[in-house]
Amino acid sequence: MAYFMGLDLGTSAIKCILVDEAGTVIGSHSAQYPLQQPHPGWAEQHPEDWWNATIAGIQGLLASTGVSSDAVAGIGFSGQMHGSVFLDEAQQVIRPALLWCDQRTAEQCTYIEATVGEAELGRLTGNRALTGFTAPKLLWLRQHEPEHYARVRHLLLPKDYVRLRLTGAFGMDMADASGTLLLDVANRSWSQTVAERLEIPLEWLPPLYESGDIAGHLLPEAAALTGLAPGTPIVVGGGDQACGAVGVGVVRQGIASVALGTSGVVFVHDDTYQVDEAYRLHSFCHGVPGKWHRMGVMLAAGGSFQWWRNHFASEELARAEQEGIDVYEILTAEAATAPLGSEGLLFLPYLSGERTPHPDPKARGAFIGLNLRHEKAHLTRAVLEGITFGLRDSMELIRESGIEVTELRVNGGGARSPFWRQMIADIFGIPVVTVNSTDGPAYGAAIMAASGVLQVDITKLCEDWIEVTDRVEPNPANQLKYEAYYKVYRSLYPTLQSTFHQLTDLADTIN
Ligand code: XUL
Repeated sequence: MAYFMGLDLGTSAIKCILVDEAGTVIGSHSAQYPLQQPHPGWAEQHPEDWWNATIAGIQGLLASTGVSSDAVAGIGFSGQMHGSVFLDEAQQVIRPALLWCDQRTAEQCTYIEATVGEAELGRLTGNRALTGFTAPKLLWLRQHEPEHYARVRHLLLPKDYVRLRLTGAFGMDMADASGTLLLDVANRSWSQTVAERLEIPLEWLPPLYESGDIAGHLLPEAAALTGLAPGTPIVVGGGDQACGAVGVGVVRQGIASVALGTSGVVFVHDDTYQVDEAYRLHSFCHGVPGKWHRMGVMLAAGGSFQWWRNHFASEELARAEQEGIDVYEILTAEAATAPLGSEGLLFLPYLSGERTPHPDPKARGAFIGLNLRHEKAHLTRAVLEGITFGLRDSMELIRESGIEVTELRVNGGGARSPFWRQMIADIFGIPVVTVNSTDGPAYGAAIMAASGVLQVDITKLCEDWIEVTDRVEPNPANQLKYEAYYKVYRSLYPTLQSTFHQLTDLADTIN
């Protein structure tokens, strides 16, 4: 039996899985690493931590499954997108990587849109300049750390750096490259025009591949460290959103997914390259060769719920530990005891600033409508409803651009809750399904590995390996009620925008 390994280099851990030739996951192992926040709004990681965790993750996976290294036929990579790994001539890391959720580059984004022209940038890259993207990070380095910038010879994304250490070969997939703001997304090539206008040397960027292409083979020294066989083929893989979508079978027109991780992503497949007029959705290459996708990204979806759990759920955390159950199960059960709409309470989930539909690093969270009747259950429910309304904003942009979505596949931690799945179906007005694969981006990466090694289409493997396991229909009565609350939700950000900016600036200057 041959096995395929899927690696997902996430924001808090690398998840490694092994999948057999029938697509069944036979084992999983994760290894954590820390996130540094040296200033409010900054987020960094040490690429060396990713490397050490990758070695530990692969070793742990091989040990726990007992699969011999010779049986691993190929490896695929998924990874957190947009992060900037700056390497010098000797391929040494120059400074910690700035991550997708780092918000320091507002000034550089304004500069990029002014220099390239907002419309021209959209025409060339399919996207607006957003703080999380990679090119603004490079310009930040040029402006604030010129001594580091002077040493840069290579710019890589997180997983591409780890793959370089494993194979010695540079490479990047189209899907992840789309989030650099340096890719001509329509033509699937680096944009010479954008690079020239921003004075970024194109030779710093790696060769481009489609996600199932084999981008190198395991080096003997990496084989010795991980326990894998030297020469094992490694496919280029994809950014975590493309891999997550492949992992739940979002590879055909009409199917969309909602990924409930730290961020929250509404993702729709496009057979042809499409943009929305104002570039409010991201238009990226898909991990399916020759296909594209659009997506809206909320920065703190699961992240808002996690914040609520961390700071306001000590009783639930203690109970979860005592009874050996998941604290989120307890919290969603409590939320279900409050009525729909949380008795007039709304939550704005902009705890990390926001991207879609409000590209605003200074947006902030809020509870609006509190009264004396409100108890913790109302607030917990409002958090879940607020996150889901925020995701609905992205779905509205997808609808406005003329795409008909007939099925939503929910994945990520939040997908485990039947209560939240029903809420999504009711707020979106679309049937919500779950599928048999629950390993998200790591599963998509394993599919890409199998595609590259077996030379079978990614779409075909998705059809063969992925099945719908549960379907929730929208409840029409709930839909009407949520619709009324959603109207109020939509009015809040424009009303509060200047207040959020004033508060953010005050916190920066006074503290
Ligand atoms: C996508 C994005 C996030 C990260 C999270 O554009 O920024 O989903 O990839 O890992």
